[in-house]
Amino acid sequence: MPLRILVGTQWGDEGKGRIVDLMSAESHYVVRYNGGDNAGHTVTVGKQTFKLHLVPSGIIHPHTIGILGNGLVINPRSLLSEIEMLRAAGIEVSPTRLKISFGAHLITQGHIALDKAKELARGKGQIGTTGRGIGPAYTDKASRSGLRIFDLLDLNQLVVKMRMHLEQVNQILLSQFKAEPLALSPILEEMLNHARFLQPYIADTGAILDQALRDNQIVLAEGAQGILLDIDHGSYPFVTSSNVTATGVFSGLGIGIRVVESVTGATKAFQSRVGAGPFPTELDGEMATRLRGTGANPWDEFGTTTGRPRRVGWLDGVLLRYARRINGLTDLVLTKLDVLSGLETISVCNAYMDEQGQKVDTPAMGVCELERYQPVYTQLEGWQENLTGLRSWTDLPEQAKVYVRFVEKISGLPVSMVSVGPERSQIIVVPRE
Ligand code: IMP
Repeated sequence: MPLRILVGTQWGDEGKGRIVDLMSAESHYVVRYNGGDNAGHTVTVGKQTFKLHLVPSGIIHPHTIGILGNGLVINPRSLLSEIEMLRAAGIEVSPTRLKISFGAHLITQGHIALDKAKELARGKGQIGTTGRGIGPAYTDKASRSGLRIFDLLDLNQLVVKMRMHLEQVNQILLSQFKAEPLALSPILEEMLNHARFLQPYIADTGAILDQALRDNQIVLAEGAQGILLDIDHGSYPFVTSSNVTATGVFSGLGIGIRVVESVTGATKAFQSRVGAGPFPTELDGEMATRLRGTGANPWDEFGTTTGRPRRVGWLDGVLLRYARRINGLTDLVLTKLDVLSGLETISVCNAYMDEQGQKVDTPAMGVCELERYQPVYTQLEGWQENLTGLRSWTDLPEQAKVYVRFVEKISGLPVSMVSVGPERSQIIVVPRE
């Protein structure tokens, strides 16, 4: 049963890219099943840092085959520039190494224009979308008027469908948002060029994966975003438009559920969020700046896709248990433990207090009304040592070990690894207690 799944247990940006990179070393296939170029995965190998949005992070390992499943929404312009960036860095991305499902949906310039116009019109109620056209593309998918990767195979039909789609978009832009209409010709021209380039990459990826799994090849499913941004299980409406959780893997790839070996949750040692919406353990002031970093390093808490400073806070055990339940997690990887060095005490939220002063382990309505709750913290002793050079569990300061074991206790899950820096080698394997 060689399907391994890696998902985010928070609001995204848990450091999944670098964990995928690690897990890819022993995977044959690295696959994305949800979202689009709203995702931002950072992988650092030696002195090279890659910021990937669409192509699975595991492609950096030369032996892997990357797959973009049918659950994705794909902007061909972003995909092409990412392929070019990877090729320029010496990573081969050819049709034998990257395969795109015919069932994935296309993001067009029309979707992007709608995303921006809708977000602007929300005024104070803005979601803080990445402006990449994700919501409108999934809206078209659900309303059965979307364009699919399959449509790139017939250029004549593509022009007809694109024209119809863009005319509809222009109508909405004009009538609902009083926004400038889009000029059709350059968009059509660009899409045709992209179609010609991408045609050799298009395949029945579900069938390829089915065969691979039958041959006992390891498939690594790489989640984008985190559970709290899931369209069904996240803090709606401040969510993205896809199923980011482990359950999204099967519909997003076209494979059955009997093949799962593990579901690993990537968890940052503290919590972060980009965009609007409730965040019970959010910090501000000096401590927030301390956890966020200044933006001088690529791993500081600034959005990989948008560059926006992330909101930061203490680790939230209530939400971690929620992530365990919905995803059926088997273990956790705790990232950025090194960032907590130098603090006198570290707070971890293990329960909430409701408006009546009642302590609860689980909110009554999932994550629907997080703004009603105050976090109840446990204070743990911090450590002063710099962890970035450590590679073995036995070398970690006692307080850091206590922190990791406390995360295991409140989540009910084993922590299999911790990361102590962005580089590939900055990982410590955690022994089972
Ligand atoms: P959208 O996915 O662009 O529609 O944005 C919806 C919400 O999800 C916004 O709050 C975004 O900031 C957030 N979001 C989308 N993708 C990511 C991600 O990869 N990491 C963190 N937040 C994300």
